[in-house]
Amino acid sequence: ARLVVLVSGSGSNLQALMDACADDAYGARVVAVGADRDGTVGLERAAKAGIPTFVHKVVDYPDRQGWDAAMTETVAAHEPTLVVSAGFLKILGDSFLAKFAGRFINTHNSLLPSFPGMRGPAAALEYGVRITGATLFLCDPGVDTGQIIAQVAVPVADDDTVDTLTERIKVAEREQLVDTVGRMVREGWRVEGRRVLIPLSFR
Ligand code: GRF
Repeated sequence: ARLVVLVSGSGSNLQALMDACADDAYGARVVAVGADRDGTVGLERAAKAGIPTFVHKVVDYPDRQGWDAAMTETVAAHEPTLVVSAGFLKILGDSFLAKFAGRFINTHNSLLPSFPGMRGPAAALEYGVRITGATLFLCDPGVDTGQIIAQVAVPVADDDTVDTLTERIKVAEREQLVDTVGRMVREGWRVEGRRVLIPLSFR
């Protein structure tokens, strides 16, 4: 199976996927990594692994639709089985969502539908929840509103800061991403209303 991974930041989720793909039994490989900005650690990680990269910056296009069309075309050229948004900080528009409907996934650092948006761990800490986590979901036009594929719970410690909680979530989040993407590419998946089902056969 072919994975295209979109990153804006440190790319630790990307790294976890690339590491998993080194084992043929995983059933996938990262065929391209895309970004919305230059010079990120995520892009460096891809280059180091010899994976082709591309950068489309919104400011280089006359409007958002132009950027979206370029993203759609470039990603499509890599014929992905799954497109994985992993710390990608832009919302993709209608053409992209239509082209990759049902196979464009994102990982978020809270238990959705609680604490969507950019401040997942901070918002969880401020609210005072004792359990938060990470959610893998199918992208739709909303912010963190798509159908949920997998969730993992992470406890909040009494002495957590935003940084310590963020890091604890990221450990569980990477493991969930690698495990779930692997099961999806090996076993397939189907969407039934709000639910995404992965067959249990190889679990
Ligand atoms: C992840 O925790 C994701 O949920 C959040 O940003 C982080 C991306 O980290 N939106 P990385 O770039 O994969 O290291």
